[in-house]
Amino acid sequence: MRVTNYSKKSASYGVPRRQFLNYMAMVSAIPFSSGHLHGKVNTSPKFSAYPFSLGVASGDPEPDGVVIWTKLASDPLELGGSGIDPEPILVKWEVSEDEAFTKVVQQGSEVAGPQLGHSVHVELSGLDSHRWYFFRFHAGSEVSPVGRTRTAPAMDVMPEKMKFAFTSCQHLETGYFNGYPHMQKEDLDLVIHLGDYIYEYAGIDKRVRKHIGKEIESLDEYRQRYSQYRFDEDLQEAHRVFPWLVTWDDHEFDNNYANLISEEEGISPEAFLARRMNAYQAYYEYMPLRKRSFPQGPDMKLYRKCRYGRLANFFVLDTRQYRTDQPNGDRQKPMTGKVFDPSATILGREQENWLMTGMLKSDATWNVLAQQVMMAALNRGDEKGERYSMDQWPGYEISRRRLLRFFHERKIANPVVLTGDIHLNWVNDLQLDFKDPKSPLVGTE
Ligand SMILES: [Fe+2]
Repeated sequence: MRVTNYSKKSASYGVPRRQFLNYMAMVSAIPFSSGHLHGKVNTSPKFSAYPFSLGVASGDPEPDGVVIWTKLASDPLELGGSGIDPEPILVKWEVSEDEAFTKVVQQGSEVAGPQLGHSVHVELSGLDSHRWYFFRFHAGSEVSPVGRTRTAPAMDVMPEKMKFAFTSCQHLETGYFNGYPHMQKEDLDLVIHLGDYIYEYAGIDKRVRKHIGKEIESLDEYRQRYSQYRFDEDLQEAHRVFPWLVTWDDHEFDNNYANLISEEEGISPEAFLARRMNAYQAYYEYMPLRKRSFPQGPDMKLYRKCRYGRLANFFVLDTRQYRTDQPNGDRQKPMTGKVFDPSATILGREQENWLMTGMLKSDATWNVLAQQVMMAALNRGDEKGERYSMDQWPGYEISRRRLLRFFHERKIANPVVLTGDIHLNWVNDLQLDFKDPKSPLVGTE
């Protein structure tokens, strides 16, 4: 638990110190696994139904390995437990060069514990670069579906090409996930998820599908919601056949949140952070993430790099966890006043430094930011005046200008910004000064 960080943040948000001490006392009372598993490991479990109903996944490819993932769940929609006995269970895994598993190159086992919802994250290493592998899991006499994944090219290699797809904002209630069958027909190296993997809202009638239950807050409710989404066959299949690189936006936790500030008034930081801890833990449990992203209470470090040889560097960003409160609120407003607050930040100082340092060192042809909200200044106004979304980069105009100026002055090679959140397709020129058509073009969104 990084106590010092929180006490620093509390000062800047004017949260009384005593509230934070209360919060810390409360958090320490919440049982949370740091990977330690207690109890005898069941090596020959029996299940009431097929335990690999949530499928398999892989992610965070590197030249010598990927993370392979599964989660035991016989009854994934059951609130609490997913139909699995609350005991540590032995899960074996195998990696093969062929789909029939006649050329197994690695195998091993992990203990899936109830503390992490019987999720399994295996970080493979020692594999060949830039090749397809197949993997599967065993628990008792049950065998998982066969997953397919691909390692990244070696660091110093210039691949001729790569192909990736990106996705975001998959709201179960408002439509079917028809994009995924299209992806499956493509020869993709990577699928990137830019956030809003789930929506936290209560179920609403008369939509194509309906969320189970009320707005989610507890760990079991977040787990149930992820299970409901991952039960979608098209989504599950896309996880089975491609490695994914994931980041979140706001709805994995709470709409338009900023760091420890809720969009709703009157929510105490204690309650908000306790809920954030539930949300982040469930996210980790369900995603093919490396242990470097393991949640520490209500903190979870998700920003990271993924290199695709000398062709592309992906900088995966988190514009939610470290941002200061939307300086001008989170609705659409003219770009005036507090949007020019120099202390406002959408990345936080540490992540911004990490990003700029990484981009300066990058020798890749393409430098890709995988992130959440629109960076271009997009005027959504009308004849009455200009209006910009204050929840997006223009709401943090000084952060936005600093990054674009950095692209320009440090001559960063081919910056490309991938953006989720907006539920539309856009292609934007990123210019130093968006009000001047002759202003230098510094990137593409
Ligand atoms: Fe969204």
